[in-house]
Amino acid sequence: MNNAVAGFSKLSKEEKIQWLSEEYFSNPSEAVTTLKQYWNTDEKLQQLHDEFIENTITNFYLPMGIAPNFLINGKYHSVPMVIEESSVVAAAAKSAKFWSTRGGFKATVLNTEKIGQVHFLFQGDGEKLQAFFNAVKPVLLDSTESITKNMQKRGGGIVSLTLRDKTAELTNYYQLHVTFETKDSMGANFINSCLEQLAKTLKEEAQQYDGFSETEKDITVVMSILSNYVPNCIVRAEVSCKVEDLAEKKIENPQEFAEKFVQAVRIAEIEPFRAVTHNKGIMNGIDAVILATGNDFRAVEAGVHAYASRNGQYSSLSHAKIENGIFTFWMEVPLALGTVGGLTSLHPLVKMALEILGKPSAQELMQIVAVTGLAQNFAALRSLTTTGIQEGHMKMHLNNILNQYQATAEERKVIATHFQNSTVTHASVVELIERLRK
Ligand code: MEV
Repeated sequence: MNNAVAGFSKLSKEEKIQWLSEEYFSNPSEAVTTLKQYWNTDEKLQQLHDEFIENTITNFYLPMGIAPNFLINGKYHSVPMVIEESSVVAAAAKSAKFWSTRGGFKATVLNTEKIGQVHFLFQGDGEKLQAFFNAVKPVLLDSTESITKNMQKRGGGIVSLTLRDKTAELTNYYQLHVTFETKDSMGANFINSCLEQLAKTLKEEAQQYDGFSETEKDITVVMSILSNYVPNCIVRAEVSCKVEDLAEKKIENPQEFAEKFVQAVRIAEIEPFRAVTHNKGIMNGIDAVILATGNDFRAVEAGVHAYASRNGQYSSLSHAKIENGIFTFWMEVPLALGTVGGLTSLHPLVKMALEILGKPSAQELMQIVAVTGLAQNFAALRSLTTTGIQEGHMKMHLNNILNQYQATAEERKVIATHFQNSTVTHASVVELIERLRK
């Protein structure tokens, strides 16, 4: 049973670590050493990271890798990926190379609408509320002017403002439903500031509106917040080639491969148990680029999975077909991303990742992210419908096990040769290491 702690946030970083080590570890000094091992020796850089969040005790490393050779709309990209799972970067790179000799990826941003809502309660006549809204709409918009001024200069701002009556679903519940264009920023702060101002003005104007009874004047704002569901902020990524051109070393019969591949996608379209795993593979690619570029992967995850359920049943994000001898594989996903603001200018590695990508606009980043997701999905389905995924996975996993056992270069050589012709399992690797060390 551990003790509660008072005023933890007020302790210095050293004191926090001290408390934590004594509270949770049998060897406190070893715990302190491990935590401090990950501090950066450059104090300024460390302070930058300390201040991203609260109660920071150390840095948590994730590897950053590169998947090169992504040909997207005729231009080559090296894609930075941050992920802990082995095989993902290798799979992305393999897919990128495969498609680079088959026309590359095509990506198109279909729309870029962001959404926010003021959720409020109004007790009274809904028609009167609508008349009030129509009358004060210009006042509501004017009140956001100081917030929207800069965004308008960049070509963005509030695009539409409507009143939505939700009383059929929840008593007295209405919304201001607001759509935004936020250009190269993800726009969360901008949207939330606009919404909070709209909510304040709404409440004030209602108080002064002659057409309302005293009860009606008293609007209750429950909350004002952006939505991470962005079904009109969509990017499409696609690959296609003649079925016969799919042929390569592991695809001896391209027609059979294409048919099985399309079947695998159909299964994910109709079977939620498979769809979740299928889409998880897509998110392996999407999240890795989102993390590398300092975007909010939780927001994207939430929005993408809601979109995957938009027709009432969770389904595949990607689709495939064979028509007139042409194999086409594509996906449309909602991605609200930014290449300015947030971490993009703060985190040195995020800045580098964006530089590697050629300082993309938000729309270009949407295309790169969607393409990486599609590439990942292609790699997974190609393995699943041919050799199975364990072959590749276990080869990568082998390396992790060898690291865990701190295998020497000599041991690695012997083990690599051994597993060239036999199946890698955790037990078989450990057994061989132990045998070598006897
Ligand atoms: C593993 O991280 C992802 C896969 O399971 C995706 C899939 O099954 O399509 C390989």
